Amino acid sequence: MKNIVILISGGGSNMAAIAKTAQKEAWQEKRGLRIAAVISNQADAQGLVLAKSLGLATDLVSHRGFDSREAFDAALAARIDLHAPQLVVLAGFMRILTPGFVKHYAGRLINIHPSLLPAFAGLHTHQRAIDAGCQVAGATVHQVTAELDHGAILAQAVVPVLPGDTADALAARVLTQEHLIFPQAISSFLERSA
Ligand code: GAR
Repeated sequence: MKNIVILISGGGSNMAAIAKTAQKEAWQEKRGLRIAAVISNQADAQGLVLAKSLGLATDLVSHRGFDSREAFDAALAARIDLHAPQLVVLAGFMRILTPGFVKHYAGRLINIHPSLLPAFAGLHTHQRAIDAGCQVAGATVHQVTAELDHGAILAQAVVPVLPGDTADALAARVLTQEHLIFPQAISSFLERSA
């Protein structure tokens, strides 16, 4: 069995989209791929409730109370490695990762970012796209490297920016596309690295 561990911080809608696709496409039965755990750094993440309702194992590694990023990342990695993952998926995991963590998971760590990278790395991507007068926006699935929101691009989706768009309206439009491209990018990535 090849294990996938999904890291979340918030609503977990991408995590749920991945889980539902895995179920629908019978990843476990046909390909020996299973979502071994969903881990949050936020105790009150709605995504933890959602994951449980989908029958997934959940875990919490709060970043609070650690002296350094390195100490938190080491504790998180220890918990992830209980599952010996083939792939670690960042699905709305809102933490900057240390180089040591990224190196530990080199080649098996992927992220979704709500912009058309390399444009708008970092936060507030939708407002920045609107402010820049972009006519299109979107999302990018990419491999994670030590540099924030860089790394080989695995998939992208494009949506229009509409007149009068707010950041929330644009985010919602982008999110529906994230739910389509992320599961498929994971599937293809694991197919290639099988
Ligand atoms: C998604 O839009 C994802 O692209 C973004 O957070 C949201 C999580 O939603 N990720 C980042 O901004 C990473 N820097 P979800 O919890 O409902 O999947």
